[in-house]
Amino acid sequence: MVDKSLDYSIVRVRFFQNLKCESKANQHEYSLYSVISRTIINVELHRKKHTMLCLQNTTNTEWIAVASAHLDNILIDHAHCEKKAAANAMSMVQRYPDKPHLVREMIAILKEEWEHFELCFDELERRGVTMTRDKGDFYVQELAKLARRQEPERCLDLLLIDVLIEARSCERFSILSKCEDIPEDLRKFYYSLLASEAGHYRMFTDLAREYYPTDEVKARLNELSAAEADIIRSLPNSPTIHG
Ligand SMILES: [Fe+2]
Ligand SMILES: [Fe+2]
Repeated sequence: MVDKSLDYSIVRVRFFQNLKCESKANQHEYSLYSVISRTIINVELHRKKHTMLCLQNTTNTEWIAVASAHLDNILIDHAHCEKKAAANAMSMVQRYPDKPHLVREMIAILKEEWEHFELCFDELERRGVTMTRDKGDFYVQELAKLARRQEPERCLDLLLIDVLIEARSCERFSILSKCEDIPEDLRKFYYSLLASEAGHYRMFTDLAREYYPTDEVKARLNELSAAEADIIRSLPNSPTIHG
């Protein structure tokens, strides 16, 4: 289901992210690799119409029109999404402290999502837009209802719901980065986040595969992604990242 070229480019990006750019040579190599990898990811996203991200449908054109006409709302909602992604990583540590690899990955993702929140906040300040209170994310709330209550099924469902949220966010960032009605600086901003969010998608998928049999992961992801597609279809095309 997952495209191999996307896998490799994400692995490369994450490798160089882990390198922490210790020397100038590394920094140069890192930026070069990031640009190349992001280009590969973007081309693949476009070519396969997002289906390799395990999504069973694509965003409709009405949402794109609404989003591009209400960019301040999109940015505010996006900032809240990044804040909640960081909080979600912390709640996974709270739930599963006995899974060392999961904890290690959540530490990394929390830092990245919090950095993304800061980038959104910088962008809002640069545009002179003041953040408003979080109105909640109906899409995520509906997905959360699908998680089974008992363990070990609950952990698998929470990981796969995170897979789907990252995949859908990735698809929407890709759309925003290509939308000609959006100012170029903002398109670049969304493009710059694409590789990182695709890396999160891959990381949650890998964790699910590490802790659960492949067949079980595949079957449950199939069920949840069908439900996710229904939720997306039912939404009113509001100016939010998952609207
Ligand atoms: Fe993020
Ligand atoms: Fe993310």
